[in-house]
Amino acid sequence: MNQFTTALSNPNIALIKYWGNRDERLRIPSNGSISINLAGLETRTSVCFDPTLPQDTLTLNGAPAGNAARERVSAFLDQVRVMSEVRSFAAVVSENNFPTGAGIASSASAFAALGLAASHAAGLQLSEQELSRLARRGSGSACRSIPGGFVEWFAGDSDETSFAESFAPAGHWALGDCIAIVSQAHKSTGSTEGHSTASTSLLQDTRIATTPRRLETCRRAIINRDFNSLAEVVELDSNLMHAVMMTSQPPLLYWQPATLGIMQAVQEWRSGGLPCFYTIDAGPNVHVICLENKIEHVAARLQRLPGVLEVRTATVGGPARLIVQR
Ligand code: PMV
Repeated sequence: MNQFTTALSNPNIALIKYWGNRDERLRIPSNGSISINLAGLETRTSVCFDPTLPQDTLTLNGAPAGNAARERVSAFLDQVRVMSEVRSFAAVVSENNFPTGAGIASSASAFAALGLAASHAAGLQLSEQELSRLARRGSGSACRSIPGGFVEWFAGDSDETSFAESFAPAGHWALGDCIAIVSQAHKSTGSTEGHSTASTSLLQDTRIATTPRRLETCRRAIINRDFNSLAEVVELDSNLMHAVMMTSQPPLLYWQPATLGIMQAVQEWRSGGLPCFYTIDAGPNVHVICLENKIEHVAARLQRLPGVLEVRTATVGGPARLIVQR
């Protein structure tokens, strides 16, 4: 009887965003990015290669997944099969403790946990860099959920040179993320499709050309624990990515009225002396970053804003890890 190997990973929130690929198939991004892993939000994925299976199977949050998700996972498992001696299909069981597909980057933690569990189940002992590269093939941002803490993804220009690395451990700076959920719905245009239209925006070339400066500012602000510099560069970078999204063909408008209300409230709170700033991924929900000791205060304020359905909170998380090793 084959046994399951289980891995756990946290999603991550990008402080400097990845949007657009220079190589779609290999998911080599057009620009580097920086993120923090989100402890408290978790994906737990178990994998078992089983010679009796007629195809790969995927159970997502307790129910059989749809064909599109299963095929994406199967294509990813093909990478693992190519790298290893294993030729059989696998049973994959995955669970998130947060809503899927609404701007909490479930694909990042999904492919980080799957890469770790599947490579281990196939008998591979990959280095952190190799795991990060493997996870990247499933979903670009997944490469950032492999290392822990404060992470930078070096864009690179090939499969070998495009991976993420930690530049400060989770304990370096006690930040918190309050995620204001304004919609639980699955987003209509996923990020894979979004990346492919990024270059249709007149603004994308300028965004890419100026990213190294923002990466440098962001990295320095984190290393020096300079909250105000971090706040400015992160909001600017998020706004730039959404400006590209809005001016692409077809235009991508991820914000809802409540999204903008939260952005304005957060800026007012910061002007009033509460250290917090916003950043938004490919969805309407708003991540509000604050000091960890202000999480409850910020979450309570967010909860009172119009259109906020729920507030999830997270702290800075560690690396993807195996939780059952047989
Ligand atoms: O990894 P993907 O293909 O889901 O892309 C993620 C894109 C953003 O979340 C919008 C930005 C980022 O850097 O995480």
